[in-house]
Amino acid sequence: MTAASTISRREFPFEKRHFAFIAGLIHQLAGIHLAEHKVEMVYSRLARRLRDLRLKDFDAYCTLLESDEGAAEVGYLVNALTTNLTSFYRESHHFDHLGRTLLPEARERQAQASKPRLRIWSAGCSSGQEPYTIAMVLASTMPDLRRWDARILATDIDTHMVETARRGLYAADAATGIPPSVRDRFTHRTRGEDGEPKLAMDDELKRLITFKPLNLLEHWPMKGPFDAIFCRNVLIYFDRVGRTQVIENFARLLTHDGYLYLGHSESLYGVSNAFRQTGPTIYRRL
Ligand SMILES: C[S@@+](CC[C@H](N)C(=O)[O-])C[C@H]1O[C@@H](n2cnc3c(N)ncnc32)[C@H](O)[C@@H]1O
Repeated sequence: MTAASTISRREFPFEKRHFAFIAGLIHQLAGIHLAEHKVEMVYSRLARRLRDLRLKDFDAYCTLLESDEGAAEVGYLVNALTTNLTSFYRESHHFDHLGRTLLPEARERQAQASKPRLRIWSAGCSSGQEPYTIAMVLASTMPDLRRWDARILATDIDTHMVETARRGLYAADAATGIPPSVRDRFTHRTRGEDGEPKLAMDDELKRLITFKPLNLLEHWPMKGPFDAIFCRNVLIYFDRVGRTQVIENFARLLTHDGYLYLGHSESLYGVSNAFRQTGPTIYRRL
C-alpha cells in the first residue's frame, strides 16, 4: 500500500496529485525538495490548516493556493512546511572558530582602523538561537565591542520564525548548551504571557542583530561584504540547482577571505570551486 493511499482514509482525502501540487509549489517558492516520505508530515501540518479555514477538502485548498486571494496563504504554506529545528551553540565548533580564529584575524587586519567593521550573516536563522549565539560570542570575547561597527544580519523565509527570533524569548530549558557564565551575563529569566518561565535575550545582544524575512532563492537586497556567513542545515532541503545558486551568491557577498559555515551534513564538494575547506564544515573564500 502506498503512503498516499494510506492517507486517503484520513479525515481529508490526500491524494498523490495533492502532494505533487504542494511539493511543486514549495519547490518553486522556497527551493525545498519534499521527498515522498514527507507525505505524512505534509498532511498533518496542512490538515490543521484546512480545519482552521473550514475548507472541505484538499481540492479546495489547492484551488485557494492557485487563486489571487490565496497569495497570503502561500506564505502560510511556506511557514508550515519548513523545518525549524535549532538550538543555542548548535555545532559548537563553529562558535569556537569564530571566537578563536575569525575575530582575532578581523582585529589584526583592521588594527589601524578607528572603527573596525564586522559583518556576519545568519542565513536561515530559524527562531534566532544561531544569531544570538553569534552575538554572545562577540559580546563575551570582545571587551572593546562598542568601538566596533559590528552587525549581525539574521534572515529566514519563515516570517513566523523571524518574529519569534526578534522577540528573543525562549522556553527556560532552551538555555541548555549556553555556557553558564555567558548565560548569566547576557540573558535573564522572565515569565511569558502563558505564565511559564522563559529565557530572555538581553538588549545588549538584540542591539547587534537585524532580523529580516528573506527567501534565499529570491533577490537579495544587501550588498555585503560579509566577514562570515552561517548557513547551516538549510541547503540540505534544496536541490542541486538551488544549492549552487545560493553558494555562488554567498561567494559574491563574502570578503575575499571570508568564512562560510555549513551544517554537519552539508558540503561544497561538487557544488563550488570558490572556497577551500579549512576545518570541519568550515570553508574560506578563495
Ligand atoms: C533546520 S533550520 C536551521 C536553523 C539554523 N541555521 C541551525 O542550523 O540551527 C532551517 C531553516 O531554513 C529556513 N529555510 C528553508 N528554505 C529557505 C529559503 N528558501 N530561504 C531562506 N530560509 C529558508 C527554514 O525556514 C528554517 O528556519
